[in-house]
Amino acid sequence: MTSDVLSSKELSKIDPVFGQLSFDNHEQIVFCNDKDTGLKAIIGIHNTVLGPALGGTRMWNYNNEWEALNDVLRLSRGMTFKSAITGLNLGGGKAVIIGDAKTQKTPELMRKFGEFVHSLSGKYITAEDVGMTTEDMDTVREVTPYVTGISESKGGAGNPSPITAYGVFMGMKAAAQFKYGSDVLEDKTIFVQGIGHVGEALVEHLTNEGAKVTIADINQERLEEVRSKYDVTIYGGQDIYSERMDIYAPCALGATINDDTIYKLNADIIAGAANNQLADEVKHGKLLKDRNILYAPDFLINAGGIINVYAELENYDRQEIMRKTENIFNTTLEILDRAKANDVTTNSAALSIAKERIETRKREQGK
Ligand SMILES: NC(=O)c1ccc[n+]([C@@H]2O[C@H](COP(=O)([O-])OP(=O)(O)OC[C@H]3O[C@@H](n4cnc5c(N)ncnc54)[C@H](O)[C@@H]3O)[C@@H](O)[C@H]2O)c1
Repeated sequence: MTSDVLSSKELSKIDPVFGQLSFDNHEQIVFCNDKDTGLKAIIGIHNTVLGPALGGTRMWNYNNEWEALNDVLRLSRGMTFKSAITGLNLGGGKAVIIGDAKTQKTPELMRKFGEFVHSLSGKYITAEDVGMTTEDMDTVREVTPYVTGISESKGGAGNPSPITAYGVFMGMKAAAQFKYGSDVLEDKTIFVQGIGHVGEALVEHLTNEGAKVTIADINQERLEEVRSKYDVTIYGGQDIYSERMDIYAPCALGATINDDTIYKLNADIIAGAANNQLADEVKHGKLLKDRNILYAPDFLINAGGIINVYAELENYDRQEIMRKTENIFNTTLEILDRAKANDVTTNSAALSIAKERIETRKREQGK
């Protein structure tokens, strides 16, 4: 509760929503509450110029509501630029459900959440994110058509994570091509942090190519499970950020590149699936550039998932999904070249292309 974090005197100094640091002219923020199911959720709709705001739902045990709000604001903004740069006619949105997905997620809660999504009449379309499964989306589908990422058996495109991982793999290869002059990852030392749905699928691509992969996760069981399947090493040290590596692949939560980690990082390339990897995209983007660490922008290379769920709306097939996702290689190289030519950070080069597309559409719409 707010009162646990701030005294009423302090509270008056902070505007709770529009005054948040992560607020970036979001169009709509919806707070959802249901006493019976215990649902507490926030839906963030950042921008709908290019189309309905599509983005997954994350269920996470946030320490407080500020954290949840901050997360949904950052994530929904990221979706706007992800879809824009990928050339999809979608806006940016995202939802967070406050709670422990392992113990508090019930079909009733998911259906109630679906009713809130439905009340927005398609302005926001949901999908899965951390703490969600394809089956949860099937449950949401019982009460609203405004959901993607549903099972193939129910007419959906299925779990987007393997496609996301393939896109990240393509983006990583493009970054290697740019940095080393070859996209071959064989013998490269790669740390994959977070071996969930996307991380594991990425590990599969990397080990198939002969990369030297080290995995890290807070879940010990997952570590053992993934080690039993692939030729990987489990990270046994104390501080992953101080280790020498060729490529750092953040595939857990965001903001791992921050004031505490950035000066320790000893990698040539950062390329991973996590959303919002840079705690502060301007400051940390610049520091990475100064330190000659090549950052493959997250919203550019982790777009495979959205390409996959977009197929459900546009009715394109698996082949087209793979073609679009493979194209992340070319787009990434273009962005890296552009950043170099203009002497700007890779994040800002990607962002400016995405923003250009939105502005052009706005002009076409006469707005
Ligand atoms: N699933 C998709 O298609 C998709 C698409 C785009 C972006 N992403 C992003 O990729 C990331 C991973 O998504 P996912 O679907 O694999 O989620 P997931 O929940 O399946 O996996 C996340 C993994 O990270 C681990 N983890 C959490 N905190 C950690 C920490 N501090 N250190 C190490 N490991 C930690 C968890 O134990 C878990 O194994 C998320 O940031 C998500 O937003 C996912």
